[in-house]
Amino acid sequence: MRRRTPFTAFDPAAVSPWNVQIDGLGFGGDYNPEQWPAEVRDEDVRLMREAGVNVLSVAIFAWATIEPREGELEWGWLDDTMDRLHEAGIQVALATATASPPPWLTRRHPEILPRLADGTVLYQGARQAYAVTHPLYREYALRMTTRMAERYGDHPALALWHVDNEIGCHVPRDYSESATAAFRVWLVARYGTIERLNEAWGTAFWSQRYATFEDVLPPLVAPMFANPTQQLDFDRFSSDALLDYYRDLRDTLREITPHVPTTTNLMTTSATKGMDYFSWADDLDVVANDHYTIASDGERHVELALSADLARGVAGGDPWILMEHSTSAVNWQPRNRAKLPGEMLRNSLQHVARGADSVMFFQWRQSRAGAEKYHSAMLPHAGTGTDVWRGTVELGTTLQRLGEVRGSRVVSRAAVVVDYPAWWAAELDSHPTQDLRYMEEVRAWYSALWHQGVTVDTVPPYADLDGYDLVVVPTLYLVDDDGAANVARAAERGATVAVTFFSGIVDEHDHVRLGGYPGAFRDLLGVRTEEFFPLQVDERVGVTGKAVGGDATADLWTEKTLVRDGTEVVAAYDDGALAGHPAVTRREVGAGAAWYVGTRLDPAGLASLVGRLVEESGVAPDVAAPAGVELVRRRTADGATTWLFALNHTDDGTTLDGLTGTELITGTAVEGSLALPPGAVRVVRAAASH
Ligand code: GAL
Repeated sequence: MRRRTPFTAFDPAAVSPWNVQIDGLGFGGDYNPEQWPAEVRDEDVRLMREAGVNVLSVAIFAWATIEPREGELEWGWLDDTMDRLHEAGIQVALATATASPPPWLTRRHPEILPRLADGTVLYQGARQAYAVTHPLYREYALRMTTRMAERYGDHPALALWHVDNEIGCHVPRDYSESATAAFRVWLVARYGTIERLNEAWGTAFWSQRYATFEDVLPPLVAPMFANPTQQLDFDRFSSDALLDYYRDLRDTLREITPHVPTTTNLMTTSATKGMDYFSWADDLDVVANDHYTIASDGERHVELALSADLARGVAGGDPWILMEHSTSAVNWQPRNRAKLPGEMLRNSLQHVARGADSVMFFQWRQSRAGAEKYHSAMLPHAGTGTDVWRGTVELGTTLQRLGEVRGSRVVSRAAVVVDYPAWWAAELDSHPTQDLRYMEEVRAWYSALWHQGVTVDTVPPYADLDGYDLVVVPTLYLVDDDGAANVARAAERGATVAVTFFSGIVDEHDHVRLGGYPGAFRDLLGVRTEEFFPLQVDERVGVTGKAVGGDATADLWTEKTLVRDGTEVVAAYDDGALAGHPAVTRREVGAGAAWYVGTRLDPAGLASLVGRLVEESGVAPDVAAPAGVELVRRRTADGATTWLFALNHTDDGTTLDGLTGTELITGTAVEGSLALPPGAVRVVRAAASH
């Protein structure tokens, strides 16, 4: 990959915050006027004003409209759009228009198309048909970016640059020739010599020793398991290659418009595995995230919370932009249900509760043609006499009432450690079980905490853990020495730390840490595992112990764990091959405690255990809420003002006690108790710090 000198002239402090001209929270969506006749823009702007729209993402997929034939540029429609939006007081997150190269480009230069691991070419005709590493594609993309910056850099509507779109969404891994060449350059930068690569990849195994970097390939389809470290490094490289593409476009924008901040929209769902977003964080002037609820997920509001918390984690706790979500159905799931009354408002405000300072949608006006015509929008096919449109207007009004929360931060004293390289490595082939899914483990622990009303930050292993009283480390299979030491320090300092099975097994090269599992955490936890005993698909074992609620069951994973002196066995297997062996242990460490959970507990058992951890660490919420009612607090930097978001995900109304302040959505005083109707959201401002 091409290496560039870092951009030194840029001073982030000199960049104006993207939303400087917006009063309160951002509200809007993707705006694609190129799909419509020019007359529609009049109605668009009128209705945007009616709804209170103040920010739009423009020109994301507009390359072929701007440049229908190579070098022929048609700016009129975009000039007009930018001017109209400015007149209407609407800010623009202007795209680089690179998210889908025009057909003339890929026909003329098919070498820029990406490939799958089996060599299949991904052709044009959908979108994102480009290899980010291809020098010629890069040249075209930079040219387009430069044109956008030169044309609109001084436009008063321009608030933010939106680089490409969901980079890596469709092609997180490209195995083309240009990717192969860039992979080799990346490997040279990482290892310096081929001997060091051979060492790191363990190529003495299966006669894989490389003579030169030229011999190295991406992990293409092969007769048997590809080298695991090769696979892992290709994952790292691919994330870096996508980030490098972002940086290149970003640097071009900065040179021309140093005063305008830059971002790209991430996809921090539990399904997006391709990009190590924590490593992207420093390059984003503001974090932007896209999220879509999954219809088949019975607890989609919990998955939404996790996605929002991941976005906030990438943002280091700062406010972030919800760049896309949907007013109602999407078009890309197997069965695309419409949202129920109140669901969209609740989804939107759940993101705001968890740190979003802007709520945006894909897209403003529902398309008539193309692959997304059945995807909902702010303005649906059926027009303004609809629930969706009324919901859009209601949301706009609600966000105006909540404007004062802008800039405040979410309060959390618990952390769940999440790591992308650990995710990639944990799910490699040739492992003790093929059934382990890293994000399922993260989600299980996250959900258990959500159900106890605990707001968590999701942080990488190298984050500063000082502010946390509870630190959960689910299946951190790969961890380097610094990460492991960081987790251990949290326990020494006084936190309750819980590490779960298949953690600390390998170093950053995917080499096993010898001497017994879980190598990196053996001393912290006071345990040593000799062998893994993963379970068959329908196999369950019993687990007994007060901490797991008496009798629990476990699936997926068991292991033969021995404890050191001073490590307490708090739950043991009561049947199966490991009957009598420890399943959950606890050890006092410094001013804190370290728990080891060597199996996957059923939800009730996990809920009991998490209850114990919450109690021990003192992170229980200070306001009691019934099941299905979510409470999250945002707070000003000085702690003088807090806002408690109460979201009722149930069909039953309830009353929350012990609250005093002002409810912002209804504009009423709260004196001791707050009524929370079914499905409703309330936001209580309190003057005292919590
Ligand atoms: C996102 C994408 C949008 C739109 C949306 C539909 O992945 O950025 O352009 O396709 O999904 O849900």
